[in-house]
Amino acid sequence: MAIQKEQIRTALAHVLHPEKKVDIIALNMIQDIIVQDKYVSFTLEMPIKNDPLTQELSQRCERAIHKFIDQDAIVDIQIGINVSQQRQTPAPEPMGSPLSGVQNIIAVASGKGGVGKSTVAVNIAAALARNGAKVGLMDADIYGPSIPTMFDLFERPNVTVQKKLIPLVKYGIKLVSMGFLVDVNQAMVWRGPMVTSAIKQFMNDVEWGELDFMILDMPPGTGDIQLTIVQSVPLSGAVIVSTPQNVALDDVRKGVSMFQKVNVPVLGIIENMAYFSPPDAPDKKYYIFGQEGASRLADELAVPVLGEIPLGQPIRESGDNGKPIVLDNESPAAASFLACSANMQQQLAIRAATMPKDLSISFTEKSPSAHT
Ligand SMILES: Nc1ncnc2c1ncn2[C@@H]1O[C@H](COP(=O)(O)OP(=O)(O)OP(=O)(O)O)[C@@H](O)[C@H]1O
Ligand SMILES: [Mg+2]
Repeated sequence: MAIQKEQIRTALAHVLHPEKKVDIIALNMIQDIIVQDKYVSFTLEMPIKNDPLTQELSQRCERAIHKFIDQDAIVDIQIGINVSQQRQTPAPEPMGSPLSGVQNIIAVASGKGGVGKSTVAVNIAAALARNGAKVGLMDADIYGPSIPTMFDLFERPNVTVQKKLIPLVKYGIKLVSMGFLVDVNQAMVWRGPMVTSAIKQFMNDVEWGELDFMILDMPPGTGDIQLTIVQSVPLSGAVIVSTPQNVALDDVRKGVSMFQKVNVPVLGIIENMAYFSPPDAPDKKYYIFGQEGASRLADELAVPVLGEIPLGQPIRESGDNGKPIVLDNESPAAASFLACSANMQQQLAIRAATMPKDLSISFTEKSPSAHT
């Protein structure tokens, strides 16, 4: 019986990377599988040229094909190189660098404006802090900062003697926003490069200290400014916020593709304003804008749905009153934000366990020594 490509992947999933202790299929190291009768060819992608593990991994691949598929198979392995361009989880920053104490940086983004990014970013940050994590929230929406209103905070931050900005702190969350620093109308006339340099200063010239999570509230859209921001910040992952209407879902595709373009893992989609529960019938869920749009799209894009947030006046009021609703123990909306935050953490853990740290631009070269 002819050998199938899927059999090759299954067999190679038995080959563990000796250092990362994760199989080479999960590490996405196998590409371009070709099978013709007993001839099997594929590319083994190594992170650097002349990687000392190349020969050992090639031999293990060949043995796995012979053991699990066909001992007479002719195995032809090309060696590809994956040049590191971008880290999946922040690599340790040099000691003393401003982000050396920050473990995970997560962007909350959307293709479309007004879908509830800031509401989600604020409540995810507050959910993590409520559970005991050290959390920072960076308002990357330079033109339309929401953090001051959503925290009811309009003070000016202090500066250290080394001229570093000291974040304001509320509900245990360290906060930085352009809204604390300048008149928002003044920021409106800034050009793209000024926005990028403001974001860089928010990373480099702020005393963030030790953080388990830094959440980035992104400006709406997937244009040049957003792309430059995601390239300037060492992101661990992104969360995409959407509402259920089809027109919003089209924008999710753009959002997911923007992050994939720069190799930032999309941890999942949060569907905001997903349903309405009347206050006098809190167990009923009315899916006003349609149901399951996000889950269908998530399947299509192979990205999980992290949760659904109801549409409700208390969420809008909490945003306007400056206290994240997730801090309200009684609220059903709080439970939905807590669930999203837990699912996001789970996705981060899965990524950390299975994703290679160095993946991106790849090219293939023929390596005679790797032929078997
Ligand atoms: N689930 C919800 N139920 C009710 N109101 C909501 C909900 N989510 C967000 N809102 C309200 O909708 C408005 C827009 O939300 P928000 O500012 O979070 O969106 P955004 O995507 O950050 O917008 P922008 O693109 O302008 O940055 C706010 O008034 C907010 O309180
Ligand atoms: Mg916003």
